[in-house]
Amino acid sequence: MSGNDVGWMRAAVRGDLAEGEVLGVEVAGRSIALYAADDAIFATDNICTHAYACLSDGWLDGEVIECPLHAARFDIRTGKVLDPPATEDLKTYQVRVVGDEIQVRLD
Ligand code: FES
Repeated sequence: MSGNDVGWMRAAVRGDLAEGEVLGVEVAGRSIALYAADDAIFATDNICTHAYACLSDGWLDGEVIECPLHAARFDIRTGKVLDPPATEDLKTYQVRVVGDEIQVRLD
């Protein structure tokens, strides 16, 4: 493993995630949401920062994910809260595609 590979973990295979969809995965014990939008892939924590709900059960509209429980909305590219009741931003992760694998970088 080269230095550039430090922290990168397999999260899913490319075929698991269709454009415009969100997928919840477990990576090294963390619950992460993968999003396919704008021909790119983004990753954030999957658990809403407001209470306990999986964003992968919510609705993806372009680059915005809406929580299924109380409808907070977040920008999937930056993790920033766009609409309450959440006040805390989501953690985001770097994503890369290697062959058929979607990988995320954990720190
Ligand atoms: S749990 Fe997501 S908005 Fe309340």
